[in-house]
Amino acid sequence: MLKKNLELKSLPVISFPTVEDVDAIQGLISQFSVNSKSPRVLLPRSEESILTDLHSFILLKMDEVIVGCVSLKIWSRDRAEVRSLAVKPGLQGYGIGKQLLKELSTRAKQLKIKTLFALTVTPEFFKKSGFHVVPKLRFPEKIVGDCLNCSFQTNCLEVAVSKTLLRAIK
Ligand SMILES: CC(C)(COP(=O)(O)OP(=O)(O)OC[C@H]1O[C@@H](n2cnc3c(N)ncnc32)[C@H](O)[C@@H]1OP(=O)(O)O)[C@@H](O)C(=O)NCCC(=O)NCCS
Repeated sequence: MLKKNLELKSLPVISFPTVEDVDAIQGLISQFSVNSKSPRVLLPRSEESILTDLHSFILLKMDEVIVGCVSLKIWSRDRAEVRSLAVKPGLQGYGIGKQLLKELSTRAKQLKIKTLFALTVTPEFFKKSGFHVVPKLRFPEKIVGDCLNCSFQTNCLEVAVSKTLLRAIK
């Protein structure tokens, strides 16, 4: 349920990207991933990495314009990461991020992924959707795959959050 939908001109619509959306996706992500003095909150995504992972993206569009994006990175049979979650500045706080996270959780559940996680500087946002703060070391594949190559490795402000989607059958 969107929090302030009465204030939006039109309701965001879930959309799956085409190659024509790559530049707009990259433009949105880069607003939160450029290397500057302010803390970087998203990993930069090259055009090539967005194209390669295009099938893993979910978009929300308003009047055909992308207002939010998110992608699913599968690290193992059990675990997947919420990646590149971004809502257009000016449209934050309207429930768009929450809706994208819900859609991504649904997709991960359909894939029978047991745990969805993220490394984030906004754990409070994730907690509103049922995630819990957990030790980063719970995701060694992420640390080896991304963190060890990251320029913010020594002054990283991110915390790990995780949500169990499917319980293991004992
Ligand atoms: C973080 C982000 C995705 C949230 O999207 P959003 O559309 O603004 O958030 P929503 O309106 O869906 O908020 C959902 C809930 O989280 C809360 N919330 C959102 N951002 C929050 C924040 N920074 N701190 C605390 N709570 C927050 C909202 O108050 C709302 O609570 P409610 O359900 O009780 O009403 C968005 O602000 C963004 O793109 N930020 C920059 C990039 C980023 O940090 N991405 C996440 C990296 S993993």
